[in-house]
Amino acid sequence: MKAIQIDHYGGLAAMQQRELPTPVPKADEVLVRVHCAGVNFMDVHTCEGKYANSQTYKVSLPCTLGMEGAGEIVALGQDVKDLTIGERVAWCIVWGSYAEYAAVPAWRCVKLPDALSFEMAAASLFHGLTAHYLAHDVGQLAPGRSCLIHAASGGIGQILVQLAKRAGARVFATTSTEEKAAVARARGADVVLLYENGRFADAVLEATGGLGVDVVFDPLGASTLRDSFRATRKRGLVVNFGAVAGAVRDLDPLELGEAGSLFLTRPRLADHLPDAATMRRRAADIFAALLDGSLQIDIAGRYTLANVAEALHALESRRMLGKPLLAIDH
Ligand SMILES: NC(=O)c1ccc[n+]([C@@H]2O[C@H](COP(=O)([O-])OP(=O)(O)OC[C@H]3O[C@@H](n4cnc5c(N)ncnc54)[C@H](OP(=O)(O)O)[C@@H]3O)[C@@H](O)[C@H]2O)c1
Repeated sequence: MKAIQIDHYGGLAAMQQRELPTPVPKADEVLVRVHCAGVNFMDVHTCEGKYANSQTYKVSLPCTLGMEGAGEIVALGQDVKDLTIGERVAWCIVWGSYAEYAAVPAWRCVKLPDALSFEMAAASLFHGLTAHYLAHDVGQLAPGRSCLIHAASGGIGQILVQLAKRAGARVFATTSTEEKAAVARARGADVVLLYENGRFADAVLEATGGLGVDVVFDPLGASTLRDSFRATRKRGLVVNFGAVAGAVRDLDPLELGEAGSLFLTRPRLADHLPDAATMRRRAADIFAALLDGSLQIDIAGRYTLANVAEALHALESRRMLGKPLLAIDH
């Protein structure tokens, strides 16, 4: 089968298309014929070696990239009881989806409602589950609460804005350009700001009577984190869930005290999907919202195994508005 692999860390240049044997599922895995794979920033980070020493997201080289997909089950490991051959499923945080076939742990698979396409399943699962735990479990968003969402036109950002509004929160959002700001507005953000070298924090303070928001969701890191502190109310929460602009390596906890006794967390999806029941509960909520039209996901581009590098380069260089997808040609 065709697959996209890295055998060393060297950025996107390390990716290669290879001909590999079709995987054989282990006892607790299913073999899936992949129809669609989500293209994610996590693949960029994986190529760069950011998970080389991670215990949460273990990467072993050679690694078939792609950690989200949708397809139909074609074989079952001997211990798999609750899935059947022919069933339509989606999965995430399992590498191996940039391939014609993937062996996926059964507990990481969610069944697809008939009305949900493979495309929409692959576009929604990873970012949808992430936005779900961020909005509900970490941010505890509810009427009367306020938040600031950075990179609001991005894959997670667009979903997070919609879940935050659904939860009743007042939503501030940031983007880098007016074109992206229009996307954040269309998704329902109440106030959309440009970063303007950190001046977004002054605008948030002004709009909140000098108080700041309850929660800031920051996937950028180095370029924004300290101004995110400024935009947060006293004893509020800063959620640094990514580092697309580089990691912050010189943070003294005293800064959190000076900024108003803030709470800072660096959460990961894997720790918010501890078991199959949690995975299915979150997925059911996201899929239901997609099917009743209350959640919208923009497909930013459709690619194939042959030109996936193009999609990842566009993500890396901030040119993507929404979610890129890979259609797997068999
Ligand atoms: N912790 C978790 O559970 C979890 C789960 C999933 C993903 N993540 C992480 O969340 C981050 C965002 O992922 P995503 O897939 O949703 O990406 P994305 O939002 O589609 O793309 C990243 C966005 O970040 C903004 N950005 C700001 N500075 C950037 C820079 N220097 N380089 C590139 N983009 C920059 C860009 O929007 P503007 O141009 O508007 O700034 C861009 O659209 C990644 O670090 C990913 O690994 C974390």
